[in-house]
Amino acid sequence: MKTKKSPIGVFDSGMGGLTVLNALRKELSGEDFIYFGDTAHLPYGSKSADAVRKYALRAAKFFKKKKVKLMVVACNTASVYALDTLKKTMPFEVLGVILPGVRAALHKETKKNSIGVIGTYGTVKSGIYRRLILEMEPQSRVKARACPLFVPLVEEGWTDHEITKQVARLYLEDFASGLDSLILGCTHYPLLKGVIKNVAGPSVNIIDSAREVAMEASKLLNEAGTASGKKNGSVKFYVSDAPELFKESASIFLEESFKVQQVGLLETD
Ligand code: DGL
Repeated sequence: MKTKKSPIGVFDSGMGGLTVLNALRKELSGEDFIYFGDTAHLPYGSKSADAVRKYALRAAKFFKKKKVKLMVVACNTASVYALDTLKKTMPFEVLGVILPGVRAALHKETKKNSIGVIGTYGTVKSGIYRRLILEMEPQSRVKARACPLFVPLVEEGWTDHEITKQVARLYLEDFASGLDSLILGCTHYPLLKGVIKNVAGPSVNIIDSAREVAMEASKLLNEAGTASGKKNGSVKFYVSDAPELFKESASIFLEESFKVQQVGLLETD
């Protein structure tokens, strides 16, 4: 049974989803969260749709056992490949990050003639952002580019490193020219916002969907009457492999100290 006391599950391939968790905790400070990073299978961005869907279903079953009221798929690639399946098969609400990102980019006050999207190979190949943007704003011009090296650079903690700046210039110098908005279509990219903004220039509006996701989650819970009435919520962290490594890298995303538990690889679930 979903109640006000039920936790919210947040799922990502690794620790990039912590950017979304942070926004959720800010917006929904009274909620209890369970974060699951599928570190045994990271990265999702270069995996097939079938593989990512299978991993996402296992994560959802883990959340089902934890009796969550809502699962937030913080990972763009998993949102692309698995959101529909999860929505159809799970007994709780499921929220992805793609639509909130598109909504944020098409916000009334934003210029939206020319929109760029960057993400993993999987997200870009799917064409999902382009399709949704053109459905809502047919006049827009949309272009997309995969920036796969950004993920390991963030995992390494090189969010302001000269190499990261160089990589950003290679990926984005030409790509970003003339854009009105640039959607950060990957969990890790908000950590590189400063570097990306520097290359894209001051006229490009950088869109990070995390806040929009948090606001949608809040609306959803309020409408369902299951928002927590508490003042302060908790958060528990789980990974499918190498908790110590997760802890080390995740400290870039989190200010407080925290514990991480490893869950069985979920292979047989
Ligand atoms: N979480 C992934 C995403 O947002 C990026 C990392 C990965 O490739 O697993 O698409």
